[in-house]
Amino acid sequence: MSTSDTTTGAALAYVEQHRDAFLEELKALLRIPSISTLPEHKQDVERAAQFVADALTRTGIENVNVIKTAGHPLVYGEWLKAEGKPTVLLYGHYDVQPVDPRDQWLSDPFEPEIRNDNLYARGAVDDKGQMYGLVKALESLMHAHNGSLPVNVRVLIEGEEEAGGEAIEAYVKEHPERLASDVALVADTGMPAPGVPSLVYGLRGIIYTEIHAQGARHDLHSGEFGGVGPNPIHALALVLAGLKGADGKITIPELYERLQPVTDEERALWKRNPVDVPAEMMKEMGIDVLPGEEGIDPIERATARPTLEVHGIKGGFIGDGSKTVIPAEATAKVSLRLPPGLRPAEVLALLEKRVAELCPPGVKMTVHEINGGDAVLVPVDNIFMRAAEQALEQEWGTPPAYERSGGSIPVGALFDSELHVPIIFMGTGLPDDNIHAPNEKYHIPNYYHLIRQVIRFLEIVGSDPAILSRPAKQS
Ligand code: BES
Ligand code: MN
Ligand code: MN
Repeated sequence: MSTSDTTTGAALAYVEQHRDAFLEELKALLRIPSISTLPEHKQDVERAAQFVADALTRTGIENVNVIKTAGHPLVYGEWLKAEGKPTVLLYGHYDVQPVDPRDQWLSDPFEPEIRNDNLYARGAVDDKGQMYGLVKALESLMHAHNGSLPVNVRVLIEGEEEAGGEAIEAYVKEHPERLASDVALVADTGMPAPGVPSLVYGLRGIIYTEIHAQGARHDLHSGEFGGVGPNPIHALALVLAGLKGADGKITIPELYERLQPVTDEERALWKRNPVDVPAEMMKEMGIDVLPGEEGIDPIERATARPTLEVHGIKGGFIGDGSKTVIPAEATAKVSLRLPPGLRPAEVLALLEKRVAELCPPGVKMTVHEINGGDAVLVPVDNIFMRAAEQALEQEWGTPPAYERSGGSIPVGALFDSELHVPIIFMGTGLPDDNIHAPNEKYHIPNYYHLIRQVIRFLEIVGSDPAILSRPAKQS
């Protein structure tokens, strides 16, 4: 047996011995309501940052720092004493999405509860559980290696991923040398089905906006002004309906012209996925059709085509009874998911132009950007992907599915464009984990799987001679 087999075994045994402690610590973190998009939770977000920093320090990670930013803090730590070994940048986020509608939760979103081997809480899987799994993998390795690690690590944990990640964007652009690494490992994605591990090699970007419609100076009597007064809710409905047709096509033609096409190699990779992903999606949604662009493969629609979605509409009278009024204003939250080739700022300009074209007379519409992030697509033919593949196969007894994800992790594009590192997106979320929805959960066995697959990956990266012979790329 090689040294790394022995240390891997010791680290995995440490995980077994600390199952309960690892779960209790995660529950403590989940009790902190670190909702990054709501200003009233600013202090909770700061408390969560400190919790993560303390956990890293206890693990033996060095130079742990809660970095103040214009937004929420970043947590950074490093351990760079594995001379001649590669440096791995570990990423996760400690912020979470809002919990509404609160009355649809079966238990308190910030009081974790275990039901059927699942841990229910906001952030359980997205991303506190997966992020904390990274920390517990480091702790287990530190123990197995008597206070050292098989590779160098930098740990960067974000507190506003769910709010667009402006602070981390500035940090990565300003201090690329502080993050210099050979590979980045992101624990914030899912698997196509239970038991089938996944390597995500692409994610969509996003532009999130609010469209505001202003009609008259003030609300109007709907009899007195009906027939001559502008109705901003109706105008908004016309615009929203006009932006995407019944055929599922977005009516901004440039979007499709700029889109980077899916290659035949990718389609071949998708075919190797043992899971019938469209069938699983229908099951999860509880409907038996997959509405959207006609004639296009549903997997492609869900991961590699642009989307336009309305998230909410506000305006007018919604109280009991009736009120005959023409409201003066209305707003809609609208976002577009952007596959590679489509940039947030460019698409925002195209959207503004299209909204102006569709807007009926008497109403003034303005499009406000709320946040955005770029798509990312990483090559699958590198030595770190092979190491990840091996780690996942060891852990699950079956090779990983290579997938694009329809979601967005804005920092992914920055690791690619600013740090020029290969990125491994290796997560253990399940399709029915209810991320961003009521009753979010983490399947508890997948928490331990994540810890173990990260242990295996770091051990392989630290011992594979093919990786060692690469020229070191460090600051
Ligand atoms: N972890 C998700 C991204 C994700 C979702 C990856 C599903 C794989 C599968 C991440 O926390 C997220 O939700 N990102 C936001 C970004 C946005 C607010 C800028 C998203 O995709 O909506
Ligand atoms: Mn996430
Ligand atoms: Mn999320």
